[in-house]
Amino acid sequence: MDSTYADARRVMERCDILSRYSEEPDRLTRRFATPALREAQDAVAGWMRDAGMDAVHRDNVGNLSGRYEARAAGARTLLLGSHLDTVRDAGKYDGPLGVLVALALVERLRARRERLPFAIDVVAFADEESLRYHTCYLGSASVAGAFNARDLALVDDDGVAMAAAIRAFGGDPAAIATDARRSDELLGYCEVHIEQGPVLERLGRPVGVVSAIMGQSRVTIDFVGQAGHAGTVPMDARHDALCAASEFVLAVERVGRATEGLVATVGQVAVQPGASNVIPGAARLSLDVRHGDDERRAEACRLLRRQAIDLGRERGVAVHWQAAQESPTTSCDAALTQTLTTAIASRGYDVTSLPSGAGHDAVALSDLTPAAMLFVRCKDGVSHNPAESVSTDDVAVAIAVMDDFLTLLTRS
Ligand code: HGY
Ligand code: MN
Ligand code: MN
Repeated sequence: MDSTYADARRVMERCDILSRYSEEPDRLTRRFATPALREAQDAVAGWMRDAGMDAVHRDNVGNLSGRYEARAAGARTLLLGSHLDTVRDAGKYDGPLGVLVALALVERLRARRERLPFAIDVVAFADEESLRYHTCYLGSASVAGAFNARDLALVDDDGVAMAAAIRAFGGDPAAIATDARRSDELLGYCEVHIEQGPVLERLGRPVGVVSAIMGQSRVTIDFVGQAGHAGTVPMDARHDALCAASEFVLAVERVGRATEGLVATVGQVAVQPGASNVIPGAARLSLDVRHGDDERRAEACRLLRRQAIDLGRERGVAVHWQAAQESPTTSCDAALTQTLTTAIASRGYDVTSLPSGAGHDAVALSDLTPAAMLFVRCKDGVSHNPAESVSTDDVAVAIAVMDDFLTLLTRS
């Protein structure tokens, strides 16, 4: 078996190991600043130390990183990595694959006793999925010097403020700003990630490069009606918050289907008081709207907000619209992507360049340093689902391409 396939096998085995670190016994859920994330980070930190990395540390917001020094002091640093937090009931590759491929690259350099003219930091970001505080990219934003201190006051579903969660995880919320990296010390950032879509599989290609990452709007919407007795309030006298919210969910689907290039999703619904014999007094929805064109996305949000208010008015239900997060459509760096493209082509593969409907830490880092992404084919395009799957062969291709990418960078 050639060494690259063996390295890919190890990456797959480690993804299996990390998938055991979960907040829930029967499915993979690993939120920001939780003991499950700490367990996963401790496993990765152990592998980093075994790989002979020169330093392994956790920053204040909770990112874990391992450093592989350059052949000479004062050199710039290439950031590689992805995230270790997950969505609820996640697959095992969204995030960890990128961290573990980056680690495999350092292991290969060590095995060859090779030092590059630049240092490598392998970074495992602490919060890309935003499951706990509904704010994407906490970890990568901190590295990029864009962490919003106001977010420290956000509370999770258990009422735990972000600042308290960070302290419990071992960080100092007041020192997060000191962890920001400087652009002039960096060469760039490259993230390996599963495609989370069907394009590479349809084209029969193991890897591809990302042209741009689609912008997204995250909104929390509260429908506030009137709780009442399910047995005594006449149907025409009700202000049922869940009925209003349900009408809105279908409006979101209608607008999504009617608008070219738009995707719109309500992923979370919470009903109060949540009893079978009580007319719902309140319903809280999440809204996720994405489009490659930021103005089209904003337009769709304005339309949906009007529709929510209108249907609420007809039912005597108040509507509160709270924007939680906006991230613009972000193009990947042309030069770094060209180097990735050359690395793919030099292995004899046709090169596919495709946009990402999924968000990635590369969005936050692209404000700091040139950012590029390598996608790996995933089975049926399924992701954010325990059925998420990649092949060892394709991971081996990704490792070989990234190894060549590093070599090409030494010549640039
Ligand atoms: O939602 C996303 O696009 C990413 O998986 N956080
Ligand atoms: Mn994800
Ligand atoms: Mn991801």
